[in-house]
Order: sequence, then structure tokens, then C-alpha cells
Amino acid sequence: MSGNIPLSDLVSHVNAIRGFINSFVVGREVELDVLLYALVSREHAILISEPGTGKSMLIRLLAQIFDVPYFEYQIHPRTTLSEIFGVPNIKLLREQGILKFNTKGKLPEAKLAFLDEIFKSSSALRNALLTILNERIFFDGTQNIKCPLWTCLSASNEVPKNKRDAFWDRITLRVFSSGLPKEKWKLYLRKYWDIHQPGFEKKIPKYSFSVIEQLHSILYSVNLENIRDKLVEIYVSLERENIWFSNRRMGRAQKVIASSAILDGRNVASFEDLFVLKYIIPNNAKEVEVVSTILEDLILPDAKIRREVSEIKKQVESIELSVDNIKDTLAILGRIESKLREYRNSQTLTQKTIEIIEEALEIIKRKKEEFAEKFIRGEL
Ligand SMILES: Nc1ncnc2c1ncn2[C@@H]1O[C@H](COP(=O)(O)OP(=O)(O)O)[C@@H](O)[C@H]1O
Ligand SMILES: [Mg+2]
Repeated sequence: MSGNIPLSDLVSHVNAIRGFINSFVVGREVELDVLLYALVSREHAILISEPGTGKSMLIRLLAQIFDVPYFEYQIHPRTTLSEIFGVPNIKLLREQGILKFNTKGKLPEAKLAFLDEIFKSSSALRNALLTILNERIFFDGTQNIKCPLWTCLSASNEVPKNKRDAFWDRITLRVFSSGLPKEKWKLYLRKYWDIHQPGFEKKIPKYSFSVIEQLHSILYSVNLENIRDKLVEIYVSLERENIWFSNRRMGRAQKVIASSAILDGRNVASFEDLFVLKYIIPNNAKEVEVVSTILEDLILPDAKIRREVSEIKKQVESIELSVDNIKDTLAILGRIESKLREYRNSQTLTQKTIEIIEEALEIIKRKKEEFAEKFIRGEL
């Protein structure tokens, strides 16, 4: 329970939001999940992909769903501090000599923010942003004011070359994406047409941000005891593969792991929640693959066997028989078959891996029948 509302009810509100957004934005389910982790854990997030792949649209749609002050800005190298934080109050300055920024409608007063192309900011702007993002305070010229900023979302088509960049390190969640696959193009064209209909904005449902706040309020009550040893094991493996991550991220990852459990309606974390590390650890698109493989191997007990079996399956599929290689090929197939049977009988495998083994055995059976037929017909 969280407050008076059961966790399952809060989760179903989030699922309704997810359903709405995913019915208009095509193929960005993972990106949306990551933005939701950011909201529930009260962390910042960034989407990284080529231009025109729906980053801004997804972020705007999510932000517009909530009834909170929102600030959006497209940053460029000459964006000034006052564009983001507000201009000095001239009257106060003239009459009383007090320098005070008028923050109305600017980042210091926003609960949700979308800073597009955040890495294009000048170093002065970055420093100011660091404080507000990290401490959620802003020096308004006379005093530090507490900012309501909950989460800052960002989008970019590049990432800093320096993995240790202070700014990069403070954006806890990051997703690297590519353009849509061809199978989704037709659906995408249809959705594009729907979204750009006049009046679409008016159809966006409104949700109270308290859903997110209540989910966040139970974050630290999620039990992470079961997963900590595994988490350390993963960190050790990642370090061995020379993947760099700061102590800060190691700790903060727990908030996202807890969010993943909460959004699944649980108050105890499980190994599956550790997959969120895919959106926390990688510093570039290349590292995503390394991190994913390590996670699969350590979280799914039979991931290694599954990969091996999938490879074997591909190999079997591509075997062709000709008159010169009939004996060798049959011998190879025989060897593969006994190996697969051995796997199937001796390991504690997940259903998925068993299915792949069965499929590979089926292909072998078909190939053998095909050979026999060709042999009888004298084609070999
Ligand atoms: N996956 C998608 N689903 C639906 N519309 C999309 C998708 N990707 C891009 N679009 C459309 O393309 C336009 C440009 O996308 P935008 O969000 O501005 O891209 P980005 O911010 O990544 O440069 C949007 O107005 C949107 O209508
Ligand atoms: Mg954009």
C-alpha cells in the first residue's frame, strides 16, 4: 500500500498512461519504460538517437499527460542562463540595488523539464544546470531557493566523449535507440497521420502527478536484500570488461531497480529488475551490447547455453547436402544431435531454451528425411 491507494491501483494508472502513449508512438515502448523509471525514482533521463526518431514527441507527450508546471527548451551553444533561469528583476535592481532573477515560467519553477540537446550547453550553463539537477536548488541572486524539479528529461544525438563527464554521470538513465525497423513503417505512417491531426493535443488525457509521487514514496521500502549479491557480481564483471561507471551510479542504480519492482506491482526486487542496468551503465551504443550480454549471462542462468544452442540452430539450418559431403554432413548432424540431446537432458533450462533445442532437433530430423528422400530418388 502507498498512502490509501493500493499499489496495484497506482500501477494500473501508469499502465493506462503507457497504453495511451504507446498507441500513438510506434516502437518506443522501452524508451517510455525508461522515462517512467526516471519519474518513479526521481532521477533524470536522456534519450539518445538520430534526429527525427521521436525523442521529442515521446517526452512531450509524457510531460503533457501530467498536470504540473513544465519547462521545455532547445539548448544551443549560445543559450544564455537567463533563457533557462529567468532575467534579473530590473525594477528591484534599479530601486533597491538587489539582484534577483524572475524565475516565473522558467526551469527553477518547473516540476518536469525537457532540455533538448543538453550537451550543447556552454560550460557556464552546464555548471548552473548541474546545481539545479543535482541539488534541486537555485541561487536566485539573493538566496538559494528550493526547486520543485522532479525529473529533467533530455534528448541528444551524441554523447560526451569523456565518460567521466560530470554532467553525463548525473543523468542516471540513458537509452540508445535506432530508427524504426521496416516492419513498423506502415503502422508508423498511420500514427503520424493521427498525431498530426488538428486538435490532437486536446485529446491527450490528464493524469495527476500524485500517481508518480505516491509510487516514489514507497521507493525506499522496496526490499533489495535478495539482489545485492547479484548486483555486486554484475558490477565486478562489468569492471572486468573495462566498462566504466562511477560509485554514484552504482548506488543510484538501486533506485531504478526498486522502481522496476514497483512498476511491476512488487515491493521486493527480483533478478529480472536488474536488467534496468542496461539503461544505467553503458556509456555509448557499443557498450550496450557488452552490458546486455553480461546481464543475460548472470541474471538468466541458462543464457549462455541458449546463445550456444541458437548458434547451433543457425548452423544446422544452413547445412546443405551434396554428393561430395553426404557422409561428413550426416556425421556432423549426428554429433550436433547428441550434443543437443545431452543439453536437454542434463541442464535445468528455461522453457525458452528448451524450445530452441526442440526446434533445432526438429530441423535436424527434417534435414535427415530430406537427405533420405533425395537418396532414394537418386538425386544424391
Ligand atoms: N516512433 C515514432 N512514432 C510516431 N511518430 C514518430 C516516431 N518517430 C518520429 N515520429 C514523428 O516524427 C516527427 C519528428 O520526431 P521528433 O520527436 O521531433 O524526433 P527527434 O526529437 O528524435 O528528433 C514527430 O513529429 C513524430 O510525429
Ligand atoms: Mg527533438
